[in-house]
Amino acid sequence: MPSEEERAERRVVILGTGGTIAGTAAMAQDHTGYQAGALSAADLLASVPALAGQVLETESVAQLDSCDMDHATWLKLAAALQRHLARPEVAGVVVTHGTDTLEETAAFIHFTVAASKPVVFTAAMRPATAPSPDGPQNLVDACTLAREPGVQGVLAVLGGKVHAGMGLRKVHGYHVDAFSSGDAGPVAQLEDGCVRRFRDWPDTGGEWAAALARDDQAWPVVDILTSHAGARGALLRAAVAAGAQAVVLAGTGNGSVHKDLLAAAHEAIAQGVRVLRASRCQLGGVVGESRSGLPSAGELTAVQARVRLLLELRTAKD
Ligand code: SIN
Repeated sequence: MPSEEERAERRVVILGTGGTIAGTAAMAQDHTGYQAGALSAADLLASVPALAGQVLETESVAQLDSCDMDHATWLKLAAALQRHLARPEVAGVVVTHGTDTLEETAAFIHFTVAASKPVVFTAAMRPATAPSPDGPQNLVDACTLAREPGVQGVLAVLGGKVHAGMGLRKVHGYHVDAFSSGDAGPVAQLEDGCVRRFRDWPDTGGEWAAALARDDQAWPVVDILTSHAGARGALLRAAVAAGAQAVVLAGTGNGSVHKDLLAAAHEAIAQGVRVLRASRCQLGGVVGESRSGLPSAGELTAVQARVRLLLELRTAKD
């Protein structure tokens, strides 16, 4: 095992993409009316004295409110990750991100970047200007995990818990403890600056790396529709008419779909549109088959299933 000093020498790259962790508010008590992504990755690092003296580099990939995350930024982030992970002197990479679409970006990176070193996402629910921001501790924990020997795959650290990137779900809109690893639970946790692992690190991923080589503009159209009381098939037909090549249905409970939406889904499938049914529940995914005849997204959340369809269609293109 490396000594504390040797560990501190291990180089970590911090890639900034924006989010509340890099957000600033005019008033310290303002936890919602702030500008997300106001700080660059370098400014964010400079605002955390606990990281002084560590071997760290920063690069700002974007400064977005993550509700505005887009496919072009995903490509840029994936390219930056591939570039830094290939450097022998880099032990791991931290990605700072908004909490709102963290699970989508984590899924995209898991599917497209083979991470034999740690890729550690982190974020915050309170802006950097809050009296008690959660971002600085999360960033310190993420850097600790990124330089830990033997770690691999896409992970996310929030509130001391280490989640597998593909298991991650945002389950609360305001609480600091906003994320869950679902039924599997966290992979590890940070205790007094040490990593305590509960189960295996995730696999390295990168199954759809070929999607990164395609033309930037060649993104298939994949939409998500929610099933609910009184759901209308007309919305699904409108999505198909507007060019949707695939649709994820966020079904009720174990992925069940309102009969009007279901009829429209079968029409869409007959026209060659891919349809997957996921669950609108935060936890649990979809278990088993259903009489609806619609293929299931299994454990994937609706947004993760959308990312998978996007990549399947993009790589199938040529
Ligand atoms: C965002 O997702 O960029 C804003 C919200 C957050 O980071 O908590």
